[in-house]
Amino acid sequence: RRLLSQRTQRTLAIVKPDGVANLGHILNAITLHGLKVTQARMVRLTRAEAETFYAEHAARTFFPKLVEYMTSGPVVALELLGRDAVARWRQMMGPTDSEAARRDVPDSIRAQYGTDKTLNAVHGSDGAEAAAREIPFFFPAERDAPRPRGSVELCG
Ligand code: TYD
Ligand code: MG
Repeated sequence: RRLLSQRTQRTLAIVKPDGVANLGHILNAITLHGLKVTQARMVRLTRAEAETFYAEHAARTFFPKLVEYMTSGPVVALELLGRDAVARWRQMMGPTDSEAARRDVPDSIRAQYGTDKTLNAVHGSDGAEAAAREIPFFFPAERDAPRPRGSVELCG
């Protein structure tokens, strides 16, 4: 039986509004670390969507600031696939606070592309259960359904 930590896993990454300017660098880091991008979508979140996505933090004092930030511009949601993807992406991201990240993990994504503990460039699911909830938030199952045979639709 494979160890839990060695399973091929999916996780949700979000390149947050302040990270989008460095999207190319972030995608390059992801692929260099051996994770695969299996779905991608650029979206401008509504206030309600941002509040729902971060509902677990609704009572925190930083919540209004977080929602303001997450709706301040488009984000890029990525489904990542790879061995131990949840923990490996969290490790690549670095600590929540980008200033702490610059001190402690200077080669992390948040150290390189984030600003502070709110504007921190990227999100990553914090466990397999969170990933299972967060991936369909951005990539509903119907988007994965095969196109009807003979369909001439290009998108939609
Ligand atoms: P959290 O889940 O604690 O961090 P992480 O993104 O590393 O899993 O918090 C979610 C987001 O909330 C975090 O990315 C940025 C924001 N946040 C603040 O703005 N201030 C804070 O003090 C904390 C802890 C988080
Ligand atoms: Mg978190």
